[in-house]
Amino acid sequence: MPKTLTPLPLGFARRMVDWQRLHGRQSLPWQNTQDPYRVWLSEIMLQQTQVTTVLAYFPRFLTKFPTVADLARAQQDDVLALWSGLGYYSRARHLHKCAQAVMDRFNGVFPPSAEALQSLPGIGRSTAAAIAAFCFQERAAILDGNVKRVLTRVLGYAEDLAALKKEKALWDLAQDLLPQQAQDMPAYTQALMDLGATVCLPRKVLCERCPVMDLCQAKQQGLPLAYPVKTRKLKRTSATLWLLWAVNAQGQVWLQKRPDKGIWAGLFSLPVFDTQADLQAAWPQGKDPQFIAPWKHVLTHRDLYLHPVHMTGTVKKPPACEGQWVDAELWPSLGLPAPIRALLTGTSGV
Ligand code: ADE
Repeated sequence: MPKTLTPLPLGFARRMVDWQRLHGRQSLPWQNTQDPYRVWLSEIMLQQTQVTTVLAYFPRFLTKFPTVADLARAQQDDVLALWSGLGYYSRARHLHKCAQAVMDRFNGVFPPSAEALQSLPGIGRSTAAAIAAFCFQERAAILDGNVKRVLTRVLGYAEDLAALKKEKALWDLAQDLLPQQAQDMPAYTQALMDLGATVCLPRKVLCERCPVMDLCQAKQQGLPLAYPVKTRKLKRTSATLWLLWAVNAQGQVWLQKRPDKGIWAGLFSLPVFDTQADLQAAWPQGKDPQFIAPWKHVLTHRDLYLHPVHMTGTVKKPPACEGQWVDAELWPSLGLPAPIRALLTGTSGV
């Protein structure tokens, strides 16, 4: 089958690079460095998290783990604890595994190519390209959600990105659009990210600020918000979780480490039950049950309806489910899911 040709906008890369140098973000803490450890860490944190949130976590993480070697030898629980509140905890588990792989497979030095970077845990094609572009000036294209939006609009690319072939074709176009000069790769890559984050937004476009407005097919069609085209709808599910909030006379709380798979994997949580009856059967000695007003906690693919039940009891007769009594001084420093932390600290508004 002949490939449908999408005409490439002439001068796209040049304009993006010039715009980035004049109007793009210049002084984020992970910019102006070519240290792959810092760039990698920032890219993983920024995958599903706002810049403003990452600005708080990034320096804290680096203070605790200044090098990839420090991170590799850390306990997983300490890594998860520092990640607590950023969400998407598989990122933190992969991060830790990736640091160990860099030590074991590459002698503690991040490999200097997108291809090799992509072989590491948690580093996908776009993240590998971003690290390689920022640190090694490699001509490798990024294509995360923001960049897909920018490029499909500029190109008027109306194919369905849920189809792997059509997505692959967009990767090829992204590669064709790269600047010719490798030295422009960091600014170009940052320009794509900045345009997607500040100008070419999902539900609003600020075309008058865009350096490629007059090259943009979507703008010419008067339909910028029609792109990208995606047919696959996320199936949302919901679950009801009964949370046993068991406290003893010493003020300790019963926490259990979640399994490595599934919801809140690897974090410390109140014990979770499917029903109220299961919860109460797990701690028949628990006194003064208080049913806390349930609330909805929204995850990417799932709504959780959380029903905490506060009970008191004694150290000697703990709940009959996995877990341990944890001192009130200790649990705040554990890796806890955000809604559990909010509940325990009384900041959940319930
Ligand atoms: N989002 C993903 N990577 C980013 C970066 N390097 N700077 C700002 N936002 C980003």
